[in-house]
Amino acid sequence: MILVTGGAGFIGSNFVLDWLTQSDEPVINLDVLTYAGNLENLTDLSGDPRHLFVHGDIGNFDLVAKLLADHKPHAVINFAAESHVDRSIHGPEDFIQTNIVGTFRLLEAVRAYWSNLEGESKGSFRFLHVSTDEVYGSLGKDDPAFRETNRYEPNSPYSASKAASDHLVRAYHHTYGLPVLTTNCSNNYGPYHFPEKLIPLVIHNALAGKPLPIYGDGQQIRDWLYVKDHCSAIRRVLEAGRVGETYNIGGWNEKPNLEVVHTLCTILDELSPRVDGKPYEEQITYVKDRPGHDRRYAIDASKIERELGWRPAETFDTGIRKTVRWYLDNQAWVSNVTSGTYRQWLDKNYEARA
Ligand code: NAD
Ligand code: DAU
Repeated sequence: MILVTGGAGFIGSNFVLDWLTQSDEPVINLDVLTYAGNLENLTDLSGDPRHLFVHGDIGNFDLVAKLLADHKPHAVINFAAESHVDRSIHGPEDFIQTNIVGTFRLLEAVRAYWSNLEGESKGSFRFLHVSTDEVYGSLGKDDPAFRETNRYEPNSPYSASKAASDHLVRAYHHTYGLPVLTTNCSNNYGPYHFPEKLIPLVIHNALAGKPLPIYGDGQQIRDWLYVKDHCSAIRRVLEAGRVGETYNIGGWNEKPNLEVVHTLCTILDELSPRVDGKPYEEQITYVKDRPGHDRRYAIDASKIERELGWRPAETFDTGIRKTVRWYLDNQAWVSNVTSGTYRQWLDKNYEARA
């Protein structure tokens, strides 16, 4: 059995769904269900005895300790986090609480559990911490892509909180011997991506006839990875990663934001044309930039390929098409997650950029 945290969010739910199609090993899924956590992502698992959902906080030491003692997982995979950069600019406090304090308490509970294990159970136990490429800061146009040896230079409250959590994980290995693995991944996209992030937001706004907001000049570069590829990389690191190591995960798909938005518009023109026959790109609108906006991220994923034989299966062209199709086929999911408090977030984030 494994314990997954944040398994009702975007990447965590994809991970749980994929895990249970590949293996019969049960999953305990601990998630506090913030605005980003959604049990509807896991509907396919309803009634499946291999999936045990627990509503709770990674920062609740007693709860985590009890789950570990009761279920004796051989691995903990930590996805739980506040994950949206713009929200961290509007309100950093939750990021400090969950990403730093929450990870610390989770580590404490895991350390207490692991210290009491013996023999093979102790030797094979793993704590895998899911992190981001944003901890490395921003690259210039001609800089080489991020390697695991790059220094940490986080620029937003979000990336600073993730950097702090990575450091705690590292320290628990060096100080206490906890068998940890850390992965630093680039931008994911795919099914169940909450429409506050660029790709699902653009698909949603396009179909709703709303503006497609481009921050600044739209020339910021991100390195896109289809979420199922991130999941397969995590499984591979869990299976064969060297304890105490970090692994960069990326898609070898660097794209400027404007190009991504144009691609989405073109696919939508083909799969779901506007009723007036005009192209979706007419909805593109330039808005005020994100403060401290990182210019370029790029991942050098050669270590995970060399050591563990992992490469992404999807290209950007295949992954983005699957993604658009998924959103078109799952409009009920989109309308459920975009009701209520989602609207308040849009007012807060976009009104000031007009
Ligand atoms: P998400 O915001 O979609 O989901 C986060 C999940 O964590 C939600 O289900 C939420 O309810 C849960 N959660 C939040 N606080 C919690 C707490 N205190 N206790 C228990 N559960 C809690 O995030 P995501 O995009 O799926 O990202 C998952 C992880 O991957 C994060 O750690 C993020 O930093 C990292 N990451 C994300 C990306 C990306 O492109 N989305 C890329 C690299 C790394
Ligand atoms: O690099 C990995 C990171 O990718 C993860 O750690 C984060 O959790 C994840 O949210 C993502 O961060 P970004 O800030 O890169 O993702 P976002 O989708 O918010 O923005 C992608 C780019 O698009 C970024 O340059 C900002 C820009 N953007 C975003 C939005 C929401 C716009 O131009 N307009 C928008 O409305």
